[in-house]
Amino acid sequence: MIQKLTIRRPDDWHLHLRDGELMRGVLPESLRHFSRALVMPNLVPPVVTTDDAIRYRRRLENALPAGNDFRFLMTLYLTETTDPLDVVSAYSDGVVSAVKLYPAGATTNSDSGVRNIARAMSVLEAMASAGCPLCVHGEVTDHDVDIFDREAVFIESVLEPLRRALPDLKVILEHVTTREGVDYVESGGDRIAATITAHHLLINRNHILAGGVRPHYYCLPVAKREAHRISLIEAATSGNPRFFLGTDSAPHRTADKETHSGCAGIFSAPNALPCVAQVFDDHDALDQLEAFVSLNGAGFYRMPVNRPTITLTRRQNPAVFPSLIKTPVGSVTVFDPGTPVFWRCENDPLEAKKPGAESGLNML
Ligand code: DOR
Ligand code: ZN
Repeated sequence: MIQKLTIRRPDDWHLHLRDGELMRGVLPESLRHFSRALVMPNLVPPVVTTDDAIRYRRRLENALPAGNDFRFLMTLYLTETTDPLDVVSAYSDGVVSAVKLYPAGATTNSDSGVRNIARAMSVLEAMASAGCPLCVHGEVTDHDVDIFDREAVFIESVLEPLRRALPDLKVILEHVTTREGVDYVESGGDRIAATITAHHLLINRNHILAGGVRPHYYCLPVAKREAHRISLIEAATSGNPRFFLGTDSAPHRTADKETHSGCAGIFSAPNALPCVAQVFDDHDALDQLEAFVSLNGAGFYRMPVNRPTITLTRRQNPAVFPSLIKTPVGSVTVFDPGTPVFWRCENDPLEAKKPGAESGLNML
């Protein structure tokens, strides 16, 4: 049985870092295990223009500890009035790595997103010609479509027509949650990929609803039934280079989740990597872990893989993850995998420095 694994340092291809005090509170958790992250633009107000992205990246870089060379890969938030020239120059100048499509109303801070994709076609055409990838929140927002069907309906009614109209457009179906999504990506050729989160590999809809409502498992797209989770595990462990890790770690204050209309989002930055390692171990697929967390995303985005490595070890006792992290604006509850996780990352640089029981010392 494999007890120790050294792999290239992973990237997080879908991460919410927020802004201000909350950002400064959660950022260290992503620095533990990842070298780069594709940073989501759904701030209030959103990151729409090149200038917005440059300013946001500067705020993120200023929050890094001295000497830390973590790389923020920025995204722009697509609106119906986005200027195609601004997007193309942001991409070709290396300011942004992708553009994010939020159907308006689909999720947190998506109100400025796209209501009618026809109105964004000139930007999407320009992106297709420039090679700029489009990251997609793949859910329709129609109230008469069941929330558990919204991804499958989006693929059929929005994504497939879009890709037929613009076959050169590189698309990432973010946080895929369904067998339909996996099938679509598998059969879709080399210009479509998908990110998969740690939590969708570990939870199904029963975790959210059976025996009590658990707001900390509520995210969008919502976790589906078990058969879909199994499809996601098969895709992630398959070695197919068009599936890779994007944690969608999405911090909200605990108080904003434990309320009558709780926010969508699961905060998994502190433990996503050990959780994914455990899933791969449980499915005899540790030989595919590096591809999923460290190689495939870089390949699809045409970036070099990270040079540094990280070593994971399998311990005798399951990890006791911190239940929350404290920030100046309130605590943020950490993802509970709900199953024993025996994998730990060695030399986790932040472990030793942090005081107190909630800080992750138990993860050593
Ligand atoms: O659960 C989610 N939370 N899904 C999203 O698409 C957005 C995210 C957030 O920003 O909180
Ligand atoms: Zn997200």
